[in-house]
Amino acid sequence: MKVIDENTLQNNSTLTANITTGNLVPADLRVRAQQKLFNDHFQNYKPYSIPKAQLVIADIPYNVGKNAYGSNPSWYIEGDNKNGESKLANTEFFDTDKDFRITEFLHFCSTMLIKEPKATGKAPCMIVFCEFEQQFELIEKAKKYGLNRYINLVFRKNFSAQVLKANMRVVGNCEYALILYRDKLPKFNNDGKMVFNCLDWVKDTNSQKIHPTQKPVAVLEKLIKIFTDEGDVVIDPVAGSGSTLIAAMNCNRSAYGFEIKKPFYNEASKWIQERKTEIEEIKRYGWAITNASKENPTLFNVFSG
Ligand SMILES: C[S@@+](CC[C@H](N)C(=O)[O-])C[C@H]1O[C@@H](n2cnc3c(N)ncnc32)[C@H](O)[C@@H]1O
Repeated sequence: MKVIDENTLQNNSTLTANITTGNLVPADLRVRAQQKLFNDHFQNYKPYSIPKAQLVIADIPYNVGKNAYGSNPSWYIEGDNKNGESKLANTEFFDTDKDFRITEFLHFCSTMLIKEPKATGKAPCMIVFCEFEQQFELIEKAKKYGLNRYINLVFRKNFSAQVLKANMRVVGNCEYALILYRDKLPKFNNDGKMVFNCLDWVKDTNSQKIHPTQKPVAVLEKLIKIFTDEGDVVIDPVAGSGSTLIAAMNCNRSAYGFEIKKPFYNEASKWIQERKTEIEEIKRYGWAITNASKENPTLFNVFSG
């Protein structure tokens, strides 16, 4: 990918034409990538006039209902069943995790993905993180929305939340996702290297913890870089903590998200704004002043005072 500056762009009509083919990305386009989160159901997307996406990333509710912590030690106080049940026993991850409408979701995604371009190597796709058995339903139902093809992804963790009865049975250490696409293979930035469908799950120790099923930013960044170019649009209809929008911002992609739960929306918006400020300050001053002053207020008082 070649990056060009604004002056070169204005003085060169061939370059301007090439931008629409996706071969060049102007510097000003990189700056203009924007991220917006809406506190609404994705089903109400129309008034927001968001642009169509090269990539939809969605981590859909797993419909596990009140068994969310079923094999997790946090079901018991301090993870020990001798202590009795904790307040997480018999609870849901979030109260929208029981009646998620997959057909409405697929309708939204097929509507909001850009049309298949004539050229090869530029087609859009969606990636859905889901529970293992949801994959079969998604594959079948997606066909009704023209998303005829799929590639399954498995993410391998080096840990498992299913530690209860771990000495009696095989425990799960994988996350599952599907790449769904229409007919042409999706855009694919592989740097000449093979991309395996079994990927490492990089545990996220840097990000704020906002959501019980929050996805690691590094995992999302990797997917965004493979299936989009700078300046492309990513949409997350069920954004939770806003992790997809953060990953898109880090990769200079525009991103739009929906989240119905106000507390998640508020925390996510705060995170997105903080990260925006951080990136802008690093660009302008070479370092993130606001963050540094929060981490070390005493030092900053000395300098400013
Ligand atoms: C599995 S979580 C997503 C977690 C997210 N990937 C993250 O990394 O933080 C799904 C989220 O979708 C939200 N949700 C469920 N139905 C929705 C809808 N119709 N429109 C928008 N958000 C919805 C839930 O409130 C929940 O926070």
